[in-house]
Amino acid sequence: MLDNPLRKFECDGTILGFSKLIISDENYVYKYLFNKSNWPNAEAGVELLKEFDPDFYVDMYRTDNYLCYITNKIDFIESHKVRTLIPYKDTVCAHLALYKQFGSFVTKRDLCPSNILFRKSDHRPFLIDWDQIEYFKTNEECYKFYRVELCCNYFWHQRYRYTQEQCEEAFDMEWEKLQ
Ligand SMILES: Nc1ncnc2c1ncn2[C@@H]1O[C@H](COP(=O)(O)OP(=O)(O)OP(=O)(O)O)[C@@H](O)[C@H]1O
Ligand SMILES: [Mg+2]
Repeated sequence: MLDNPLRKFECDGTILGFSKLIISDENYVYKYLFNKSNWPNAEAGVELLKEFDPDFYVDMYRTDNYLCYITNKIDFIESHKVRTLIPYKDTVCAHLALYKQFGSFVTKRDLCPSNILFRKSDHRPFLIDWDQIEYFKTNEECYKFYRVELCCNYFWHQRYRYTQEQCEEAFDMEWEKLQ
């Protein structure tokens, strides 16, 4: 097990005032989620991450105060450069890899531009932020979720300078391939 960098800051009191903390060292990123009631599905989310991307996931700590999950630190392409290097279609496919793996049962939430990192060296995508998950009852519900997350968010339009319609068209094309 890795050293826990938060130990340096631990005291005898109870943590009340904040709910998450993200620390990185040379090789790893440690995400601490405090006050478990704020994160009812976090542990299930971390389990999904472990299954989805075992080369990215490193470890998890659990204490009475927090849950911490650790991922490899990625040297990623700066967000303002992503548009010219990574087509929107590739971003959609990187997210639909979740659908390929988990089908219309469950996925991670927050499929927003800030939660996908593309490694500088080879443009391999990494999905981050597994604190919350979404369950579905039907494939239609699942389709709507991915479509809304990947097409309707203003931040996607801004990143790719796409209209809502352009996003939807590109999304539907990739979705169809998986049906
Ligand atoms: N494995 C990683 N490698 C490199 N950077 C990372 C990694 N994980 C997280 N980060 C950096 O930390 C930021 C925040 O991570 P994350 O998305 O998990 O937290 P968050 O809950 O969205 O927090 P915030 O609201 O502060 O963005 C990311 O946008 C990214 O810059
Ligand atoms: Mg995030």
